[in-house]
Amino acid sequence: MGNDKKVIFSGIQPSGSLTLGNYLGAIKNWTTLADEYNCYFCIVDMHAITVSKEPKDLRKNTLEVLANYIAAGLNPDKVTLFIQSHVSAHAELGWVLNCLTYYGELGRMTQFKDKSKKQQNSNITAGLFTYPSLMAADILLYQTDLVPVGEDQRQHLELARDIAIRFNNKYSKTFVVPEPYIAKIGAKIMNLQDPTIKMSKSDTNDKSYILLTDDDDEIRRKFKRSVTDSLGIVKLSNDQPGIKNLLGIYSKITGETIESIVERYEGKGYSIFKDDVAEVVVNELRPLRLKREELLKNKDYLQEVFQKGAEKAENTARKTLRKVYKKVGFIPRY
Ligand code: AMP
Ligand code: TRP
Repeated sequence: MGNDKKVIFSGIQPSGSLTLGNYLGAIKNWTTLADEYNCYFCIVDMHAITVSKEPKDLRKNTLEVLANYIAAGLNPDKVTLFIQSHVSAHAELGWVLNCLTYYGELGRMTQFKDKSKKQQNSNITAGLFTYPSLMAADILLYQTDLVPVGEDQRQHLELARDIAIRFNNKYSKTFVVPEPYIAKIGAKIMNLQDPTIKMSKSDTNDKSYILLTDDDDEIRRKFKRSVTDSLGIVKLSNDQPGIKNLLGIYSKITGETIESIVERYEGKGYSIFKDDVAEVVVNELRPLRLKREELLKNKDYLQEVFQKGAEKAENTARKTLRKVYKKVGFIPRY
C-alpha cells in the first residue's frame, strides 16, 4: 500500500439490514476506488448505539455489513475493512474533538434534528448530539483526503472540515482537511412510498425501502407498488420525484444515461418501466445476496478480516492520536 496514494475513509452504521440507498449511494462507489486510493471502510458500531440497540441485533448487523462490503467487491487484501470499536483511538480523538465543537454547531445538524424528533419524549442521548464529532474523529485519524458518502452526509462533512481547520489553526497543522466525494447520480435514493424523502432503513413502512436481504419477488413487489404520479410520461422532472428516483436507480446500476433511458421508454406506460427497473435491481442484488449468505456461514474468515483490518487501522490512527495528545498539552506516559 503506497504512502503516496490519497486516502479515502467512509463508514456505515450497522443498524438494520442495508438498503439499496446505502448500496448505490455508498458501497457501489467505493468498489471503484480501491486501486487508486488507500481506502479505509469502517463499520461504525459506536455510532449505531447513539440510538437504543438490541445487543444481539447489533452483533448480527455488524457482521452482515462486513459481509456486504466483501460481497459487493471490496477486497480485504486491497482495502482496510474494520470495526470502529476495535480501534479505541476513535473514542479518544472523539473526546478531544468534542471539546472543540460548539453546542450551536451540533444543534444545527439536520440529521440530529430528524433523529431526535423520532425519539419520542426525552430519550435523546448526548451521544446522538455529539455524533458528528465522533464522525470527524473517524475521518481525521487517517489523514483522509476524500470521504465518499451519500448527499445526506454533506453537512456532517462540512462540520468535520471546520473542526479540522479549527484544530490546525489553534495548535498548528495536524490534520488533512477532508473533501466530500459525492456522486452525481444515486447520491440520494428516495423512499419508494414518498419520493420526496430519502430511502432509509429506519422507516416504519417496509414497502418504502429495498433491503439487500430482500428476495427477488419482494423487490419486484415493492417496485410495482412504488409511488409515482398521474402524468404517465417517463421523463426527468422535479415535478415527478417518483419517476426521477426510478430513473436514477436504473441509470446508476446500468451506467446508461438518463436521456437514453427516457428515449427508450417514450410512449410506454409506468408499469413496464417499473417492472424493468425491478429486473435491473434484482439482477444487481442477487449475486450480492448469494455471496453474502455464503460469507456469513464462514465466521472464522470474517473474524480474520476484521482482525487484520483493525491492526492496520490502529497503526495509522495511533500516530495521529499521539500527535494530537502532545499538541493539546497531555503529558506522554512514556
Ligand atoms: P447510514 O446507513 O446512515 O450509516 O449510511 C451509510 C451510507 O449510505 C452513507 O454514505 C449515506 O450517505 C449513504 N446513504 C444512506 N441512505 C442513502 C440514500 N437513501 N441514498 C443514497 N445514499 C444513502
Ligand atoms: N454518519 C454516517 C452515516 O450515517 C456514518 C459515518 C460515521 C461515516 N463515520 C463516518 C461516514 C465517517 C463517512 C465517514 O451515514
